[in-house]
Amino acid sequence: MRAMVVFASKHGSTAEVATALGEALREEGVEVEVADAALAKLPEDVDAVLLGSAIYMGSWLNSAVDFAIGNSEALRRLPVWLFSVGPLGEAPDDEEEQPRQLATLRDTLEPNDHVLFDGRLDPSLLGFAERIMIKAVRAPKGDFRRWDLIRAWGRKVAYELRASLPR
Ligand SMILES: Cc1cc2nc3c(=O)[nH]c(=O)nc-3n(C[C@H](O)[C@H](O)[C@H](O)COP(=O)(O)O)c2cc1C
Repeated sequence: MRAMVVFASKHGSTAEVATALGEALREEGVEVEVADAALAKLPEDVDAVLLGSAIYMGSWLNSAVDFAIGNSEALRRLPVWLFSVGPLGEAPDDEEEQPRQLATLRDTLEPNDHVLFDGRLDPSLLGFAERIMIKAVRAPKGDFRRWDLIRAWGRKVAYELRASLPR
């Protein structure tokens, strides 16, 4: 069983989530490659793809969206799981579903699941414009990633993947 975890991350926290997901899958006996969406090439013999992105201003990062669009034909034929990293310890306001691209991603890739993980906001990593934006929305600072939840979801994906493959 071979899976690929593809991620888009601006300040590293989603990259670390992708790595933790890869480790959880490996512990369940899945061979895993973790790759940045901007560089990732989908191998022919991969059995499943986990694709995820950090959320900025309600959206996935472009490299993850581009990967989804650029590989949509292959991804439609594979079991796919989506993950997003964003909210900072508070429920996202439910006026609008996040990420904004989720409905299109669901239509295009028909994923088995989409999960939203809490993220990390470290002001020392942010650029000037980003600091102004987070000040304006009073976003809480800190690392809200729940590694137990992240790893549990990775294990769940491994079980579902095993169940979906012909014996
Ligand atoms: C300028 C800015 C805008 C953000 N906008 C959103 C948002 O719209 N929704 C959300 O859930 N999280 C938002 N976040 C939180 C990030 O998604 C979170 O910090 C995430 O862990 C960043 O991932 P990265 O380190 O992989 O880039 C925002 C963060 C910043 C700095």
